[in-house]
Amino acid sequence: MEMNEKIKVYEALLPRLEALMDGETDWVAAMANFVAEVHESLNFFWTGFYRVHNGQLILGPFQGPVACTRIAYGRGVCGTAWKEKQTLVVPDVHLFPGHIACSSLSESEIVVPVFDERREVCAVLDIDSRTKNTFDETDRKYLERAVTFLPRF
Ligand code: SME
Repeated sequence: MEMNEKIKVYEALLPRLEALMDGETDWVAAMANFVAEVHESLNFFWTGFYRVHNGQLILGPFQGPVACTRIAYGRGVCGTAWKEKQTLVVPDVHLFPGHIACSSLSESEIVVPVFDERREVCAVLDIDSRTKNTFDETDRKYLERAVTFLPRF
């Protein structure tokens, strides 16, 4: 997607996400609508959450094909984003050491941590694309803002 077009989509998407999250305190309901809205707006291959639970990441609400259900701390892109407490933009998943291939159709990826009040990672937003080099600083900026709309849990 061309850069200006992407910015336009995100500028329209963020207020919709904020409105969708407004007043919703249940994390399943909030995450379910969040991923549906993001997935539909940008036509990604896979959009979903993994939630930190009992020392691992467990699959949460998502849109797209069936995915692996549990990811260990520090494993794959998701587990690394959790460990490093920062967003990871991966232009080519085949070049990421330890990438967990839930689908051979995934070519690039962004993983955005969700923080609780103590600044601990409580979940990650994982988005996969069918093409390489899909994600950049624009996605990072808007998605990091977007996850702040989620209810604290
Ligand atoms: N690719 C991820 C695993 C999750 S699936 O893509 C949905 C990773 O390496 O963390």
